[in-house]
Amino acid sequence: MEIIPLGHALGAEIRGVDIAEEIGDNTVAAIREAWHRHHIIVFRDVSWTPDQHLAFSRRFGALDDHASTPHERFEGYPELLEITNRPKNGQPSQSRNAGRNWHSDYSYTDRPAAASMLYCTEKPSVGGDTMFCNMARAYDELSDKMKGIVDDLESVYDFNLVSGTKVRDPEKMAELLKLNPPIAHPCVRVHDESGVKALYVSERTSHFEGMSRAESLPLIEYLCQHATRPQNTYRHKWRVGDLVCWDNRTAMHMALGDYDPSEFRHMLRTTLQGQKSGYVVAPAEY
Ligand code: SIN
Repeated sequence: MEIIPLGHALGAEIRGVDIAEEIGDNTVAAIREAWHRHHIIVFRDVSWTPDQHLAFSRRFGALDDHASTPHERFEGYPELLEITNRPKNGQPSQSRNAGRNWHSDYSYTDRPAAASMLYCTEKPSVGGDTMFCNMARAYDELSDKMKGIVDDLESVYDFNLVSGTKVRDPEKMAELLKLNPPIAHPCVRVHDESGVKALYVSERTSHFEGMSRAESLPLIEYLCQHATRPQNTYRHKWRVGDLVCWDNRTAMHMALGDYDPSEFRHMLRTTLQGQKSGYVVAPAEY
């Protein structure tokens, strides 16, 4: 197995493993180790079925059935999420603008995703890239004083701030808001496997629990800007057959809308369940 770094801050490509076939425990352990070190791992030229995607993903943990976003499930496969601008049943796809702001998956649920594995089946001729940033490094690079402040905060996540909400059907949006009330999580997350501490705040954070939105916003904006500085990012330029796996505990990501919307982009994602960490709180006053 070969591990080739793709970025200084995060990201590595793994070569020499056929992930469409069953892989042994030693290979799983080696992939997991590289994943913890680089936060984002990329496999190229993967050609597989949805069942093979599920089988590979399950080697790394239990899968989420996407009950929090049921309209984006891939038909017949609740453990696969379909992210595409390709119309579905003659209607615009609900996920056509999914992921367009910096976030960590399922932060608006009480069991945020541990990791995600996104497979590209179709891409526009140019663009449709995904950006990633390293939240462990973002935490490490704060001053000790600021670490002390954020260590004490809880970030509240609000589904209203999820990108693409404006293009969803109002009825579906109402259902999603009911399924996903505002949730508070620690603003600094300790990785349950590696023990690494990482910032857990994003453009979907409405406020810090116990503080107003007006009081919270300057710090949320500062922390997001600090985490997403170019030197702390990796930009993935997709090829059909790429599988990109990210650790939601130590990285944020954002899908760029940098492509011609008349061309199709189609992705399938599995989501590894994380630990329960949140509790329901009152919404922010906007
Ligand atoms: C996501 O946020 O999971 C989607 C990312 C992408 O489509 O690039």
